[in-house]
Amino acid sequence: MCCKQGKDRLKLQQLVLETFRNHQKTIVDCSLGVNIILGDNGEGKTNILEGISYLCLSKSFCTSNDTVVTNVEATGFTATGNFISDNKVFYNVQVTFNKLENKKLITVNKEKINKASSYIGQLPVVILSPEQSSITSGSPSNRRRFVDFIVSQSSKTYLECLIDYRRILKQRNKILSYMMFSHKENDETIETWNENLVRIGVIIIKKRIEFIEDFQNLIIDSYAKLTGTAELPRIFYLPSFDCATVSKETIETTFYQMLQDRYLEECRIGYTLVGPHRDEFIFQINKLDTRYFASQGQHKTFLVALKLAEFFYLKDKCKETPIFLLDDVLSEMDKQRSQRLLETTAELGQVFITSTDERAINWKPIASSNPRKFIIKQGRIDLVENPAQIC
Ligand SMILES: Nc1ncnc2c1ncn2[C@@H]1O[C@H](COP(=O)(O)OP(=O)(O)OP(=O)(O)O)[C@@H](O)[C@H]1O
Ligand SMILES: [Mg+2]
Repeated sequence: MCCKQGKDRLKLQQLVLETFRNHQKTIVDCSLGVNIILGDNGEGKTNILEGISYLCLSKSFCTSNDTVVTNVEATGFTATGNFISDNKVFYNVQVTFNKLENKKLITVNKEKINKASSYIGQLPVVILSPEQSSITSGSPSNRRRFVDFIVSQSSKTYLECLIDYRRILKQRNKILSYMMFSHKENDETIETWNENLVRIGVIIIKKRIEFIEDFQNLIIDSYAKLTGTAELPRIFYLPSFDCATVSKETIETTFYQMLQDRYLEECRIGYTLVGPHRDEFIFQINKLDTRYFASQGQHKTFLVALKLAEFFYLKDKCKETPIFLLDDVLSEMDKQRSQRLLETTAELGQVFITSTDERAINWKPIASSNPRKFIIKQGRIDLVENPAQIC
């Protein structure tokens, strides 16, 4: 039987979690194809995926609070992983968090990483978990987060601009909040913050325009793979002011003018009303907005299609094959769709998938990806030996 693990793709070979959530010391010797992580509710399956997320993104996909990830009886945690890239480059990544000092240290091949942006994107991941259903059904911030998450992995400049933009926005909002409480409208520093906001904001807007242009075809192709061509998905970028098809200079001028125009209103309510933090992305199926018109099945299909499109986008831009982290997605879908998802992802890259129910998995079609089955009980993991028997 052919084994696809030799294919050129990014692979996590081994994961070690120490005092990480309910894992005291967990060592996972990974299949380079499909890793099935089984266990009852609350045993520690998602925590394994969270550990991988720390290694690839320097943070959790579940929380922004590193302290809650630290085992309740410990003063910090460590996640360590050995990766082999598409080009067979070895990466030893270690993320250590010290709760007492509230400090996170990241090393790649023993070298300290000062800025997470300098390595994010080298180990791309595509994450699908039940909470992500809010991407197609929730508020605009969910879709902005989805887009930012992808573009940040593929562009260091974008990630740095986002961090900068948030800092500038926070400062500007502080001033506006002061104006609101003090009933004032004059501040000498606001001009400088306007200029900074426009300078960084315009880079983010331009990159979002480019992203949607690239992503549009990927989502159409991915959706068609899942359903045929009867339904046409589309995504649109709706910036907080009208600028989707114009030059950088025009965007700058319009953005700046909008800040001037709405300044008095902003002083009354105490925060910034225009800019990339208020942008929207519209997702449609056959010209109907998914938020209001999609059925449950269409939501799920759209989400899976977004994730496949994300995979192809990141693979192209990062020049590295992303790893799939699929958290508890099988229970959310009917058997046929979930099996197709498993087979499609297994074909494309290394997969880590959690499930409470082994019956949701048909091993035969994924046998060539050399699957490994792990069982987790109270934060202790066991590899079920002899994968040949599984298949
Ligand atoms: N900081 C922590 N220290 C110790 N244990 C923790 C910590 N954070 C979470 N846990 C424990 O981890 C377990 C949850 O782990 P996880 O979310 O990985 O479960 P799961 O197997 O994915 O469950 P489900 O099937 O319900 O999604 C719970 O038992 C919880 O009490
Ligand atoms: Mg879970």
